[in-house]
Amino acid sequence: MRSITHWPINRYPMLLATALVGCCVWAQDTDSAAGPAEYIGLESCTSCHIQAGANWAHTGHARTTLQLPDTPQQAHGCEACHGPGSRHILDPLNKATILRFSSTSIQPVAEQNARCMQCHQGGQRLHWPNSVHERQQLACSDCHNPMARLSQRGLLANHDINDTCFACHQQQRAEFNRRSHMPLPEGKLSCVDCHNPHGGITEPLLKTVRVNDTCFECHAEKRGPFIWEHAPVRDSCLNCHRPHGSNHDMLLDAPRPLLCQQCHSQLGHPNDLLTRANLPGGSRPDARLIGRSCSNCHAQIHGSNHPSGIKFHR
Ligand code: HEC
Ligand code: HEC
Ligand code: HEC
Ligand code: HEC
Ligand code: HEC
Ligand code: HEC
Ligand code: HEC
Ligand code: HEC
Ligand code: HEC
Ligand code: HEC
Repeated sequence: MRSITHWPINRYPMLLATALVGCCVWAQDTDSAAGPAEYIGLESCTSCHIQAGANWAHTGHARTTLQLPDTPQQAHGCEACHGPGSRHILDPLNKATILRFSSTSIQPVAEQNARCMQCHQGGQRLHWPNSVHERQQLACSDCHNPMARLSQRGLLANHDINDTCFACHQQQRAEFNRRSHMPLPEGKLSCVDCHNPHGGITEPLLKTVRVNDTCFECHAEKRGPFIWEHAPVRDSCLNCHRPHGSNHDMLLDAPRPLLCQQCHSQLGHPNDLLTRANLPGGSRPDARLIGRSCSNCHAQIHGSNHPSGIKFHR
């Protein structure tokens, strides 16, 4: 139990009065009995947390708070996030006296996130509740750092979006290093071009309902409509492509002709000589098909608008 002699009276003389008023309740036990804490203002916080104050001053949060607060809560500065600080300055080493945003914090992640969501509900976070990241107990502060030294886009915890994700998604980092990949490591696109990390209505957090609509955002020419459509393309680009990278060319799921042969048997192909080996029951596949890309002839594999493009030749 705390006794009055341990109070940091010398360091915080101006708080003595408040402390004495609260002493009976306080002495009984810790925080829950101490009554609600009160707001003490930004200047008090930054008088001790000089570096944190200086870092925070660069952020959008600081600009809004200091200039044009939209709500009374915004005007609370540091305490808009960390909560009212009157008890904290009496007992700074007690981890329960101020909201700490960290996985080692004694306040649960849900409580930390709820604080951010007081101002950031809806919008991109419409589907945050029950999203995979929420269920996995991610904190907003796993990806964001509102105390970031420099005011970066999105106040990210890491220096860019992809690195923020790679901190946990090592497998995707490896996939984007494969021989064929979209230019994400080269900085031309990022995970959030396709995913909404705050949640979505599809399983892998895609920004669109269908995979194809995500791809069409940049590959609009594949949308069609085509006179002659290739069924698996309409169904899903992922029938043939791997979004994060592949060791086969063109992000393909399998090398050609195997890719096509997963669905099409080459036996009886109109272009084949009907050798014994090439007939059903033959012992060897037609050597002329091996290594020959089906796309050499079926070049318009995503669909054709040519009147005679029914077999996607043109
Ligand atoms: C009298 C000096 C003092 C004042 C005023 C003060 N703090 Fe602190 N604060 C401390 C000390 C000391 C610690 C303990 C540092 C530690 O645990 O390593 C601390 C810890 C913290 C932490 C946790 C830091 C961490 O590393 O997890 C936060 C957050 C914090 N203070 C925010 C605030 C806010 C917000 C205010 C204003 C409401 C404030 N402090 C006012 C002295 C102060
Ligand atoms: C928009 C919400 C928000 C506001 C406003 C805010 N903080 Fe923080 N603060 C955080 C988060 C989130 C973290 C955890 C950052 C991390 O993951 O390292 C943090 C961490 C801290 C820490 C411990 C780590 C560090 O960077 O030193 C201190 C101390 C702190 N804040 C003090 C302050 C002070 C002082 C203010 C006002 C000048 C303030 N905070 C304003 C959200 C906020
Ligand atoms: C009191 C309300 C309030 C709270 C609480 C709050 N924010 Fe904000 N936040 C704002 C406002 C207002 C802006 C817009 C600032 C601007 O115009 O740049 C903002 C902007 C942001 C941005 C975008 C910054 C940018 O540069 O694009 C991020 C990310 C963010 N907040 C994350 C957080 C996180 C994480 C927390 C919890 C630790 C949090 N916020 C808590 C009000 C709040
Ligand atoms: C898995 C990582 C991750 C988590 C967890 C996360 N965010 Fe974000 N958030 C991002 C990224 C990446 C961006 C940048 C998007 C951009 O720049 O287009 C962003 C953008 C934002 C923005 C600015 C854009 C906007 O929507 O206005 C705000 C505000 C924000 N996040 C708040 C939050 C809050 C609040 C939480 C916790 C409930 C949270 N984020 C959790 C990754 C995350
Ligand atoms: C702090 C760790 C962490 C960070 C940072 C993180 N994630 Fe995750 N993410 C997870 C965990 C845990 C899961 C669930 C297990 C899994 O599927 O690997 C997950 C799952 C996912 C899923 C799969 C959803 C599903 O339904 O299968 C996607 C997509 C995803 N994250 C995207 C992102 C993006 C984009 C970012 C960066 C903006 C990001 N994550 C940052 C931890 C993280
Ligand atoms: C071009 C769009 C695109 C980009 C960019 C992208 N993804 Fe994906 N991601 C997808 C699609 C589509 C799926 C669904 C894959 C499936 O269902 O097989 C997916 C699935 C995932 C999954 C679920 C597990 C898996 O691999 O199938 C995770 C985790 C994930 N992405 C993380 C990331 C991260 C992290 C980044 C950034 C480094 C990223 N993605 C960039 C489109 C993209
Ligand atoms: C944010 C924009 C964007 C989105 C969304 C996107 N891509 Fe891409 N994609 C690119 C860029 C940029 C390139 C490189 C083009 C170049 O080098 O000319 C590319 C290249 C490709 C390539 C050719 C790769 C190679 O090795 O030349 C394929 C295949 C591809 N994308 C498939 C997809 C699929 C499938 C989706 C949906 C899951 C998708 N893309 C979504 C931007 C995007
Ligand atoms: C039936 C398999 C298949 C499906 C499904 C498929 N593709 Fe392809 N895609 C290919 C093949 C094969 C190539 C290589 C073509 C070549 O070598 O000329 C390719 C190449 C590409 C390229 C790079 C060359 C180019 O034509 O621009 C892009 C981009 C692309 N596909 C996007 C998509 C998108 C977007 C979807 C979904 C709408 C999709 N693909 C669905 C088989 C497929
Ligand atoms: C996921 C299965 C799948 C894959 C992989 C696939 N296709 Fe198809 N393909 C189909 C389906 C289904 C049809 C429509 C068949 C029908 O209408 O009878 C079709 C139709 C065709 C047609 C027109 C057939 C006709 O009778 O008019 C050609 C040519 C064709 N595909 C070539 C290819 C080539 C070349 C590849 C490899 C680049 C490929 N397909 C990969 C499923 C697939
Ligand atoms: C040398 C050119 C050439 C190559 C290589 C080729 N095809 Fe064809 N394919 C054709 C021609 C020409 C037709 C159309 C014949 C017709 O209209 O009667 C055709 C028709 C088809 C059809 C439609 C079958 C039908 O009954 O109408 C499919 C499916 C097909 N090819 C798949 C493939 C696959 C899979 C590969 C790779 C293993 C491949 N083709 C390689 C020239 C080729």
